[in-house]
Amino acid sequence: MKLSVAILLSTVSLASAEDAALRDIISIGTRPYYLVEEMKDGELKNALSEIDFRRSDLSFVSSSTNDDRYLPLTSCSACMQYPEHTVESYKAAALMGAGIIECDVTFTKDRELVCRHAQCDLHTTTDVVTRPELNAKCTTPFETGVEPKCCSSDFTLEEIQSLCGKMDSKNSVDGTAEEYAFGGTADWRTDLYSHGSTCPKIPTHAESIELIKSFGAKFTPELKSPDVEMPYEGDYTQEMYAQQMADDYVKAGIDPSHVWLQSFNSDDVIYWVNNTDFGDQAVALDGEYEMPEEEFKAWHKMLADAGVKIVAPPMWRLVDHDPNSDHGMVPSAYVASTKENGLDIITWTLERTGPGLDGWYWQTTADMEKTEGDRLTLLHVLNEDVGVLGVFSDWPATTTFYANCMKVAMHDDHHAHTEADVEEEEATDGSDASASGSRYLMAAGRLVNLGLRMVGI
Ligand SMILES: *[C@@H]1O[C@H](CO)[C@@H](O)[C@H](O)[C@H]1NC(C)=O
Repeated sequence: MKLSVAILLSTVSLASAEDAALRDIISIGTRPYYLVEEMKDGELKNALSEIDFRRSDLSFVSSSTNDDRYLPLTSCSACMQYPEHTVESYKAAALMGAGIIECDVTFTKDRELVCRHAQCDLHTTTDVVTRPELNAKCTTPFETGVEPKCCSSDFTLEEIQSLCGKMDSKNSVDGTAEEYAFGGTADWRTDLYSHGSTCPKIPTHAESIELIKSFGAKFTPELKSPDVEMPYEGDYTQEMYAQQMADDYVKAGIDPSHVWLQSFNSDDVIYWVNNTDFGDQAVALDGEYEMPEEEFKAWHKMLADAGVKIVAPPMWRLVDHDPNSDHGMVPSAYVASTKENGLDIITWTLERTGPGLDGWYWQTTADMEKTEGDRLTLLHVLNEDVGVLGVFSDWPATTTFYANCMKVAMHDDHHAHTEADVEEEEATDGSDASASGSRYLMAAGRLVNLGLRMVGI
């Protein structure tokens, strides 16, 4: 494999990296090279193999300022696998070059917004069941033999911030609370960063904004559907919740062109279009996977008529298997419908799955003989043939690698910028208004261990 590698910085330690360093350093580790090596022979593999990672070749802009970000390759990727939606996972995403970082948003008992993948996942994503006083406050506390359910709305913000995040997993309820909480992790993930003195911190939504801003990255929060009845406690409505999420960006002085608000609930998205400055980039996530063609066409038209501009289905919705095509996959009828309705596409989630490209995320290419390297093939088809705006990845190094290899424009006009522009933007955190037509590779807040293996590079 012909990969020439320039190690530009000899050591990058996440533990000692200050946020300022996270602005400037990108470390993609070894995994992208493993995936290239695993690819079937062909032009795409050749193209991805012959990339010459030298400083001058790589001006990678993923930030709100226009500092070119160079891509040093280090061997410390294994130090970047942290529990989802914690400060530590966001730092790791930034370090792997994620241009846009997601906080999944839910609310606490005292109506504060925090980053969690679901309102009721604290029993598998934190150590709450091992804290007797807090466990007792869960909707269903852990007891031996009883499946617990612990929700952000069971706790005040202060209580939630006293918890430690951990890899999303659980064991049988027949053991102790500790055995339930710490165990059952998929063998391609890791518990390495779920223990110890670091106690992975659950950020508030506002804290996530400050953190992501400090990386020079952009924002794509998702308003998670409440698990409690709305209006919550009789007077906290869905609209108030949607507005509160948008307001956090206004309070932080973030330009709306740096923010992609998302929801699976179309009404939330149309609410933002109708009532906030965040409508232009609001994203309608598609969770209606069974919709036949006539129905998704009607849904796309309804969204477009309401002023929504971006739709976000899972990746498999966008491709069909075609053995006669160059890459075995071609854009689906769903893609044609988005184009007919003038909608842009963001999609999810690359690197969500363990080894073996089968199961739910790969259902439309089930008949295709695939290798691990076909993760990159799919990314290429999504980029070139589907023309997506961005791709969520649970391991942003892979999307960063591809974006740099293929020189996917992160900002169309970044070369045109002068120092004065940069200074002005830094002063205002303003937008360079280049969003239209530019592409972003995204990172979900959940990072997973994808079993790094060194390859001969
Ligand atoms: C958005 O505005 C349209 C037109 O005024 C209105 O019909 C619709 O009900 C509004 N929807 C939401 C969710 O705010």
